Amino acid sequence: ASSGQRPRVIWLHFQECTGCTESLLRASHPDLARLILDVISLDYHETVMAAAGYQAEANLHDTVDNHPFILIVEGAIPVKDNGIYCKIGGRTALEILGEVAPKATAIIAIGTCATSGGIQAASPNPTGAVGVEDLPELTGNVPIVNIPGCPPNPVNLLGTILYYLTFKRLPALDSQKRPLFAYGRRIHDQCERRGHFDEGRFAEKFGDKFHQMGYCLYKVGCKGPETFANCPTARFNDVGVWPVSIGHGCIGCTEKNFWDTMTPFYER
Ligand code: SF4
Ligand code: SF4
Ligand code: F3S
Repeated sequence: ASSGQRPRVIWLHFQECTGCTESLLRASHPDLARLILDVISLDYHETVMAAAGYQAEANLHDTVDNHPFILIVEGAIPVKDNGIYCKIGGRTALEILGEVAPKATAIIAIGTCATSGGIQAASPNPTGAVGVEDLPELTGNVPIVNIPGCPPNPVNLLGTILYYLTFKRLPALDSQKRPLFAYGRRIHDQCERRGHFDEGRFAEKFGDKFHQMGYCLYKVGCKGPETFANCPTARFNDVGVWPVSIGHGCIGCTEKNFWDTMTPFYER
């Protein structure tokens, strides 16, 4: 639904699992999803829009042609064989991004798929999947913010949108276009198990006595030392947990190409 003052947002889904959307919609914070939906006018979003078929496409074109809008992209863009591996409404992701992106006032790439290709881009990347920022010939000079994670914490999208609406500019970004407020610090430097790391107390394998005692997960593969994100402080869905707090090492899901660079996940 559109309305007067709320900024319009177009949310495009390309090659992905919809997990980023699902995590946003399932956020247990009472008003997180509603807050996002109340502060913006979500003119096109395949998962939640009421419109379908021709009406949905008409909404998309009306916004793109007649109004300023923020573009959120979820999912990778396959470029091999002219992009035939992802089509919506008969058009490739490449064609749709090329039409919509240049007219956006800003682009937010949500999730590791949209920021660097995600699991589809893992070697041997059979469809030539890439992230939005890898296609400057389509996005032109439109500023891009990357919110990686698989899926990312919804609070990082919310913070980015609210920052943009409040200050009329994008938040400060790191060299990978990630907001510093969320991705400025290393997981390892904020982790509640860091004391165990510093004292040399490690779980040697999953389920052993030291794992049960909450020791550091470095030796069972934790990639917290190589990963930048706010998971230990923001935590997830207001239930106060994040991967390491429930006994699973970080797999580096906010880092570019982590399916290739952070594997094997359970070894150092
Ligand atoms: Fe799914 Fe992860 Fe891609 Fe989000 S980043 S769409 S959760 S595979
Ligand atoms: Fe670092 Fe991971 Fe150990 Fe935490 S569990 S201290 S992030 S290696
Ligand atoms: Fe991802 Fe590591 Fe956080 S796996 S969710 S960046 S703890």
